[in-house]
Amino acid sequence: MNLLSEGTIYNPLQIESQYFASGSSHFETVVLYIYIMKKFYALISLALLAACAKAPAPEAVSTVQSPSGKLEATFHMTADGTPMYSLKTGEGIEVITPSRLGFEMRGVIKAQGMVIAPDGSITQPDEVPPYDFCSGFELLGTEQDSFDEVWHPVWGEERDIRNNYNELLVHLRQGDKLMDIRFRVFDDGLGFRYEFPAEGGLTYFCIKEELTEFNCAQDNLAWWIPADYDNQEFEYATCRLSEIPSLWEKHSNQYNSSTQVFSNRGIQTSVQMKTPEGLYVNIHEAALVDYPCINLYADGKNIRTWLTPDAEGWKGRIQTPFNTPWRTVQVAASATEQLASRLVLNLNEPCAYEDVSWIHPVKYMGVWWEMIAGAGNWDYTNHPNIKLETFDYAAAEPHGRHSGNNENVRKYIDFAAENGFDALLVEGWNVGWEDWANCNKDYVFDFVTPYPDFDIEALNAYAHSKGIRLVMHHESSSSVRNYERHLQAAYDLMDKYGYDAVKSGYVGDIQPLGEHHYGQWMVNHYLYCVTEAAKHHIMVNAHEAVRPTGLCRTYPNLIGNESARGTEYQAFGGTAPEHVTILPFTRLNGGPMDFTPGIFEQNLKQWCGNDSHVNATIANQLGLYLTMYSPLQMAADTPDHYSRFMDAFQFIMDVAADWEQPRYLYAEPGDYLIVARQPRQETLTGGAAAFSRGRDTWFCGGVTDECAREFDVALDFLTPGATYEATVYADAPDAHYLTNPQAYTITTGEVTSTDTIHVTMAPGGGFGISFRAK
Ligand code: NOJ
Ligand code: CA
Repeated sequence: MNLLSEGTIYNPLQIESQYFASGSSHFETVVLYIYIMKKFYALISLALLAACAKAPAPEAVSTVQSPSGKLEATFHMTADGTPMYSLKTGEGIEVITPSRLGFEMRGVIKAQGMVIAPDGSITQPDEVPPYDFCSGFELLGTEQDSFDEVWHPVWGEERDIRNNYNELLVHLRQGDKLMDIRFRVFDDGLGFRYEFPAEGGLTYFCIKEELTEFNCAQDNLAWWIPADYDNQEFEYATCRLSEIPSLWEKHSNQYNSSTQVFSNRGIQTSVQMKTPEGLYVNIHEAALVDYPCINLYADGKNIRTWLTPDAEGWKGRIQTPFNTPWRTVQVAASATEQLASRLVLNLNEPCAYEDVSWIHPVKYMGVWWEMIAGAGNWDYTNHPNIKLETFDYAAAEPHGRHSGNNENVRKYIDFAAENGFDALLVEGWNVGWEDWANCNKDYVFDFVTPYPDFDIEALNAYAHSKGIRLVMHHESSSSVRNYERHLQAAYDLMDKYGYDAVKSGYVGDIQPLGEHHYGQWMVNHYLYCVTEAAKHHIMVNAHEAVRPTGLCRTYPNLIGNESARGTEYQAFGGTAPEHVTILPFTRLNGGPMDFTPGIFEQNLKQWCGNDSHVNATIANQLGLYLTMYSPLQMAADTPDHYSRFMDAFQFIMDVAADWEQPRYLYAEPGDYLIVARQPRQETLTGGAAAFSRGRDTWFCGGVTDECAREFDVALDFLTPGATYEATVYADAPDAHYLTNPQAYTITTGEVTSTDTIHVTMAPGGGFGISFRAK
């Protein structure tokens, strides 16, 4: 009997009825048959994978050099038709040795039916087994091209970005299925992606796994965080690739409200590495659209992609024509060169919006840190169980600790306005916070109804009268269906009251359950929110969203993301000082972070009974406004705390958030970072405009890890011949992040471009310097 003969559609109900009609022996034969087929398919697919893993020796097909010959990428094929690539420097130092390209595909898009085993268990096998899409390819041809342009980001670290590469396009065919691989070789790295044309045998397909490899030539030193389908709020580990499993558990965070791990060899991108030769090599992805986010599986120096699965465990539902995100390997001769690399942005598409006049950098404060630290609450009552449809907040008794109340918000508006800020975030403004987290609640927020003590109309009017915009807050609690249902009404409400920026959030397990924060479904959701927001001229800052991959070039209203361990963890047990020296190499490689710097009161216990200590000096917090580039910069502490240190706060008031150009002066991941930046004139507002408008100004900032460090900062970035007033905000000689974090000095003097400033950073310290030409 051939149940699965060609053209037969396997219908389990039919089988079941046959069983009842004709006795168990027939049914058992059928089940056994399907079981054997399943095992057979599994064996085929294992054999295919093994075949892919042990591909014959690669033969070079085509080599492309970067524009000035610093790098050289080669495309290879093996005798069995496995596509591969490798990467080396112009001097011949191997970075990536021949590494496989391709996929394992699911045979069908959807399971075809179910099988009831004799023990009553039910499975849904695929009628068509998974198939190898990493070998058996025929090379149809190659094309080469080159490209050179200078483009101008709407906001950024610099006005001009050069996008200059040589390209190789490889056309492949496996049977009737076509696949192209496009390589772009820049002086600062390689990007490649898979392209599936609409012609040929692939129209709709489902990926079982992407099999891209990054075989590192050496057992590199790596700065990495554990892979997790839902969480990236970790401290970084530093070790050789081969040592990853030994540090993995220590650096994961099983206590986060949502986490799903898969292996103690799994790590996230962007991962920064350093080779024994001293090259800085970084693996990430660019332009993550309609596809799952990659993780990396590091089997020693052999790294391969491990996509985030969907709720059924599959890894990408595709309709052709389709291009995958770019896989990126940046290579730099120094840490400062890596920081200056714009490869990830360059691999993204140009801006998708014609009118960008409504998009602007934002310096903001927030009714936020006091809740994070525990001095106030998001919620309004003590009711443990709210049904939004029926709960009457007007009749409910408030507990009196609600931070987002009219009086408190006015106090923050006053302070933000007096000190030259653009905006104020208010969290906990809307109903539903009483049981918002970790309840798997569907209708958790409506995003439009304020708490009784938050007068949305009056507060916005008051803020606007003082030149402040309120920043909307949409915590979705990861109830994503609910958020999408309310999104238009929520954006309409923002239009009505004049909000032009929203901070969104995705705390907890994604609902529908089974989907992951970094899966294809959520990747599409985040971008949907951004593009819908654009229709309302709203800027988006999404927390807990997928890590950025340079999409802010295409959609510049995506002005911020969290997507890493931010300052909030200083109130959740603390974060090691070195964290901020690593983030610019890893998390920031894909786009800016809403890191929320500026904490001046480190002793949280004394303030609000929180046992955590903020592991940073005040001068370190100032340095972050330069080292953690973002067009969205917060002064995260409270007006009360800032009022005690107004002389140091002056630096935060003066500093810009949008730049003409950067100068990375000193850097080593895990140790220190010093950068100077020149403000961009057109986008200056408030305090930054008061300091810089129409003036020749620069800022310089630095941070260190737990070690004290000294540097000579040569001022050759200043305009030759001009004299500047320099104000140096530095750690005092006895400052220390643990014992004396509020000890700083402020000194002023005249300097020129031929001078050098000697800076000393305390353990966990840093500095900020403003320069203004006389
Ligand atoms: C986590 C975010 O990172 C934090 O900034 C926010 O306050 C809370 N979620 C509540 O939305
Ligand atoms: Ca967070």
